[in-house]
Amino acid sequence: MDKGTVGIIGAGTMGRGIAQVAASVGYDVILNDTTAKLVDSSTDRLRQDLARLVDKGKLEGAARDAILSHIRGSVDLRDMSAADIVVEAIFEDLDAKKKLFAALDEYCRPDVILGSNSSSLSILDMAMATKRPEKVVGIHFFNPVPLMKGVELVCTITTSFQTLEYARQFSASLGKQTWVAKDAPGFLSTRLLIPYLLDAMRLLESGFATKEDIDACCVLSFNYPMGPLTLSDLIGLDVLLNIANGMYGSFKDPKFAAPILLEKKVKAGQLGRKAGRGFYEYT
Ligand SMILES: NC(=O)c1ccc[n+]([C@@H]2O[C@H](COP(=O)([O-])OP(=O)(O)OC[C@H]3O[C@@H](n4cnc5c(N)ncnc54)[C@H](O)[C@@H]3O)[C@@H](O)[C@H]2O)c1
Repeated sequence: MDKGTVGIIGAGTMGRGIAQVAASVGYDVILNDTTAKLVDSSTDRLRQDLARLVDKGKLEGAARDAILSHIRGSVDLRDMSAADIVVEAIFEDLDAKKKLFAALDEYCRPDVILGSNSSSLSILDMAMATKRPEKVVGIHFFNPVPLMKGVELVCTITTSFQTLEYARQFSASLGKQTWVAKDAPGFLSTRLLIPYLLDAMRLLESGFATKEDIDACCVLSFNYPMGPLTLSDLIGLDVLLNIANGMYGSFKDPKFAAPILLEKKVKAGQLGRKAGRGFYEYT
């Protein structure tokens, strides 16, 4: 089962999910965040998620122990010198990501591919912050990572064929199917998703429909597994606001403009499921 080592930067919703999936197929994982407290709370959360799977009979106790034994926490980027591939999953902030890629370029072996889990930002900008732009690629997972079958690979004009192929094989080794999108704001998936989610918020904001009816309409008529407001809470309203602002800045198209309701919710700390409250309340 010695598959190599995956470095993951950012131990939030996505980083934790990617860590779980990689560890469950036998990769060693180095899960990095900015403080030991954040790394510890992320691994605690993962332990709880896995315990719930064991309780439901969906995971053996031994498999849970194996997953946890493959993950080690890190607060020092120099630990990435041991990684065979790195996937970045920090906040959706281009300057922060560019700084991180420049640092990773310094600490990672020269042959290592650097992937970004960004939902919308320019992968080329991240690539050009390094001296290995041909080895930088978008590896965009979906939430919740253990359940979602797809990974969007984002190819810039500098990404080499070998890098794309490596990212495809890495995703396949995690049991994920891939498609390739161009490096333009929102790629393919987010460009389709954001106007849909923001429209649902606008309908709620204008009083045209209740949140329950908006969600029920999409679940019952389009056969979507969850409605747009439930999905927004799952993604994180702060994450969505950042994405919407970035895409509006790029396209200047009103369909990407964040509704005031979304801005207010983020200001009030009602960030969705992870905060216990978003459009809905969670215990
Ligand atoms: N939430 C989703 O549904 C979703 C889906 C697909 C892609 N994404 C993308 O994945 C990325 C992460 O999103 P998330 O929802 O996991 O965010 P999150 O807020 O849950 O987690 C981000 C983590 O990154 C850490 N971090 C920030 N700067 C760092 C740095 N310099 N070094 C190390 N760690 C750092 C933060 O402390 C935090 O723990 C974003 O680019 C987002 O657009 C999110």
